[in-house]
Amino acid sequence: MTHPHSWWQTGVIYQIYPRSFLDSNKDGIGDLSGITSKLDYLRWLGVDALWLSPINPSPMADFGYDISDYTDIHPLFGTLQDFDTLLQQAHQRDLKVILDFVPNHTSDEHPWFQQARSSRTNEKRDWYIWRDPAPDSGPPNNWTSLFGGSAWQFDEQTGQYYLHLFDVKQPDLNWRNAHVRQAMYDVLRFWLDRGVDGFRIDVLARLLKDEQFRDNPVNPQWKPGDPPNVRQVSRYTLDQPGMHEIVREMRAVVDRYGERMLIGELYLPMERVVRYYGEQLDEVHLPFNFQLVTMPTWEARTIRQVVDAYEAALPSGAWPNWVLGNHDRPRIATRVGREQARTAQMLLLTLRGTPTCYYGDELGMQNVAVPPELIHDPPGKDDPEHSRDPQRTPMQWDSSPNSGFCPPEVQPWLPVADDFQTYNMAVEQHEPRSFLTLVHTLLTLRRSLPALTVGSQRSLDQPNPACFVYLRQHGRQRYLVALNFSSQEQVVTLPEQGQGRLLLSTYLDQEGPTIALGEIHLRGNEGLLIEVET
Ligand code: NOJ
Repeated sequence: MTHPHSWWQTGVIYQIYPRSFLDSNKDGIGDLSGITSKLDYLRWLGVDALWLSPINPSPMADFGYDISDYTDIHPLFGTLQDFDTLLQQAHQRDLKVILDFVPNHTSDEHPWFQQARSSRTNEKRDWYIWRDPAPDSGPPNNWTSLFGGSAWQFDEQTGQYYLHLFDVKQPDLNWRNAHVRQAMYDVLRFWLDRGVDGFRIDVLARLLKDEQFRDNPVNPQWKPGDPPNVRQVSRYTLDQPGMHEIVREMRAVVDRYGERMLIGELYLPMERVVRYYGEQLDEVHLPFNFQLVTMPTWEARTIRQVVDAYEAALPSGAWPNWVLGNHDRPRIATRVGREQARTAQMLLLTLRGTPTCYYGDELGMQNVAVPPELIHDPPGKDDPEHSRDPQRTPMQWDSSPNSGFCPPEVQPWLPVADDFQTYNMAVEQHEPRSFLTLVHTLLTLRRSLPALTVGSQRSLDQPNPACFVYLRQHGRQRYLVALNFSSQEQVVTLPEQGQGRLLLSTYLDQEGPTIALGEIHLRGNEGLLIEVET
């Protein structure tokens, strides 16, 4: 009998930022062999799939999101053979491997762009987006780069501007060109043939731009100091007509390979995100749901609204997913504090849908202040406040210098957190109440309880505005999750007369006692997982 759910539905995804996971060759930068050597840790932790941020050859203007060869491995990270070893070792441990697919732009050092910029008549010219200067010889329209400044760069040699929605070294590909599409689908096939299990697709909703190149409306609320990516409303550079057809084409490529999957990076309003499942569920398997990352406040009421609205908006048969952090956003333990982050983990790992965990978040890692002279990230160079380096610092493995990320005599590419001797894998694995023990326990429970992986989800009405309570149910098994989003003690009253058994408190100091469901007491920042007795 075939399993009714796929691995990407019951499983948990773990995002690795390869530069920062483990340096095995002593250059201060993480690599593939480093990742391979930690697969047993990931298996122990209890995740099911690894998503690797880009590992292809790249001048590293945007740390791998500027690719100069889609079908090879950057020598910093290793070789294709190292990749095959990683894949084989991962599969041996029943871990899937998801690669980052970056279709919106290449590096300006990619041979395609080198050819395209060589002359207006080159056969690759139309693979990118070129426009004549405006009558005043300035940029063709007002579009701004998400990293700041104009999105257009003048090319002296050929007298035209090329478009780059990100860094000037990331020219946008022209997805209206059929050859570009075919070349990029060949890239997918190259990795699928090698055995990868899926792709996370970078800036998926920006592949098509307005055919008339109309100006974007300026965001009237933007003021100096605000992030450059909200300077304009991306009306003509985001989610354009024709996008869904492209995603269906990508899906058709992947579907020929059986149980492989696609995740779309989509920062869009939720009702537009869910359209990327496809009308026939024939687009991406998981359009990333970033609501827990982007919500301006971390409050019980807002979270309940978001969960309920998302559940209601999901097309029939679509599988939900949740994200708490990634390499582009401040870490959860920084956004909400370490105490509250424990409850945030309980939320992520008990909600219905596939969770994506960001490396190091399982340790309670926080953003690390990076001195201005050490900033690497392009948007951070103009404005340190918008640097993404602080959430990309080395994984904290143990208490040795450099936290075991690289040898003591080597300088890691970004600084290691000051508190690494308290927050690291080796120390936390042995502490019964550590952050890691909590995440490990949550992942173990999730795996063993079908109600948490495939069960239904229902928010429960209760009067306390500081708490969010919901029920996960599968057959006769029912589990109640009660989360306190405040740092004060709270009491949740429910109409339920029954009782339950406490399976887990985020404090990890009690389990087993019977709890009357009518009145549940929560300590500050506490989350409880309760098995409802039938
Ligand atoms: C989204 C990626 O997550 C981010 O890190 C990158 O800078 C942009 N896309 C451009 O590729």
